[in-house]
Amino acid sequence: MLSNKLGISDSTELAREEEKISKKKAIELFESGLLDELEPGTWESLQKIHKFLFEDIYDFAGKMREVNIAKGNFRFASVMYLEPALENIEKMPQTSFDEIVEKYVEMNVAHPFREGNGRSIRIWLDLIFKKKINKVVDWSAVDKEEYLQAMERSPINDIEIKYILKNALTSEIDNSEVYMKGIDHSYYYEGYYTYKTEDLQ
Ligand SMILES: Nc1ncnc2c1ncn2[C@@H]1O[C@H](COP(=O)(O)OP(=O)(O)O)[C@@H](O)[C@H]1O
Ligand SMILES: [Mg+2]
Repeated sequence: MLSNKLGISDSTELAREEEKISKKKAIELFESGLLDELEPGTWESLQKIHKFLFEDIYDFAGKMREVNIAKGNFRFASVMYLEPALENIEKMPQTSFDEIVEKYVEMNVAHPFREGNGRSIRIWLDLIFKKKINKVVDWSAVDKEEYLQAMERSPINDIEIKYILKNALTSEIDNSEVYMKGIDHSYYYEGYYTYKTEDLQ
């Protein structure tokens, strides 16, 4: 289990507290207007989002991970290539729906943080959508299983995730309920942790 600032040593309790605190912080990020001030699509913005959400919980909040991690059968970007990957992802275009999803898929493949990538990258994605095409994802219209399958498939083929997100786009860009659904951890929780690859050997 991950060491944390809360002094919690039980992983179920940590998951529960982590979800509670990060949700509170996510609402604060949205309602304070701080999120709107961030530049869409940069690594720095993603760092700020992650830091804001998790700074009371983890020392690694906002910091690039230093270990290799995997979920299911997929290993995310090797630490060896992570920094150049983030520089290149930041430069990816973000003017159309397709370009934005392609950028999102690459950022997910990077998975730059030790934990909390799903939630922070979805907020980062919505910020790009909001600023560039004046729409956001209504995550309540996204089926969890279908979303996770599409994300698992996305490094090979992004057709499914594009289809799912396109159908869930809404013009309600300032609706906090629409926004919060995207970071409902239990909703998107896959039932297993992100593993350090060395733990799998
Ligand atoms: N096998 C997989 N391949 C690629 N991406 C995945 C896979 N499984 C989950 N994901 C993506 O990673 C996210 C979970 O990453 P994680 O770092 O645990 O974030 P969080 O703690 O916020 O859920 C999921 O929401 C999904 O977007
Ligand atoms: Mg997780």
